[in-house]
Amino acid sequence: MIATAARLTAATTPERLAAMGFRPDDAADVGRLVERVLTNEADLHRVSVLADRLIAQIGWFAEPAYELFDHDLARDEHYGAGTFPMLALLITADDVVDFHRSREIPDDVSWATLADLGQQVWVHRRTYGSFGLHTQGWMTVAWSGALYALGRLQFNLHSRTEHADWWLSTHIPETGPLTPELVDDSFRRAQAFFGRHFSDYEFAGFLCDSWLLDPQLTEALGPDTNMGRFQRRWHLNQPPRPGDGDALFFTFRRRGDVDLDALPQDTTLQRAIVGKLRSGGHWYCYQGSLGFDEVPPAPAGDGAAS
Ligand SMILES: CC(C)(COP(=O)(O)OP(=O)(O)OC[C@H]1O[C@@H](n2cnc3c(N)ncnc32)[C@H](O)[C@@H]1OP(=O)(O)O)[C@@H](O)C(=O)NCCC(=O)NCCS
Repeated sequence: MIATAARLTAATTPERLAAMGFRPDDAADVGRLVERVLTNEADLHRVSVLADRLIAQIGWFAEPAYELFDHDLARDEHYGAGTFPMLALLITADDVVDFHRSREIPDDVSWATLADLGQQVWVHRRTYGSFGLHTQGWMTVAWSGALYALGRLQFNLHSRTEHADWWLSTHIPETGPLTPELVDDSFRRAQAFFGRHFSDYEFAGFLCDSWLLDPQLTEALGPDTNMGRFQRRWHLNQPPRPGDGDALFFTFRRRGDVDLDALPQDTTLQRAIVGKLRSGGHWYCYQGSLGFDEVPPAPAGDGAAS
């Protein structure tokens, strides 16, 4: 079992929390949480067991360990939702960085990638109005060493076991406009990055599984919006699955039963999402693919991406 108390102290300094993407109010709450956990042996034990589980799955990409935290030990009625997983993730960040270094991945990519933890804690506060984490299953993808933030987008090694092939699965964090130039740049960086640091894998192309691939979005927002242009890049592969919950979550940061009357209606997207649901329509999540050869080359004079 790892030295949990010492690790907790080292992993929750203000500098480290800032590097991990924590906003000041969330960092202050981590500080208060750690003070209490450090005085409770049973809580320390819980964090320790969860951390050991995270460490055990580093380097294992074939099957994401989304359920790693579906365990009584991870449940927390005292300090807030997802706080034991949050601490386990914090104290194992260095183990993930060590794995990255074993593949010669630069530290700036490591920290940009792991900063998704602070981003997710911020998303939790916006969604539920309180300190916590509810996307700990998603965080296991980054903590396995499969996910990398490369410019505007994130990518993870993704295995389609039924086809025995590997793809780069594409993710879009809420970090500002999705301009086509930033998207092209990220795609180019991903090809160079995975070609260099994961040359022992062969990738078939990019995949994306998202509500952003619903063609109804392009109809509603227009083909020349950032979202319309992103949606139209992809070849849609499979029948869609229901996406009302994702459309509401990613547009309004609301989960569960949502009162449509209480939602803001300031932007075209907000009006489109609510308007369709009110008229009895639905939003969908699609899976799309994109060939490496479909990504435009870097404009002349642009430095080589890595
Ligand atoms: C995807 C995303 C970056 C697109 O943002 P963008 O580049 O600003 O989008 P566009 O410029 O095409 O915006 C088109 C319209 O939708 C609005 N819009 C876009 N995203 C919005 C959001 N999350 N909430 C409210 N309105 C939004 C814009 O304001 C604009 O409307 P307007 O002309 O009335 O101002 C943004 O929606 C986002 O951060 N989403 C959350 C992350 C996400 O969905 N990830 C995928 C998970 S599977």
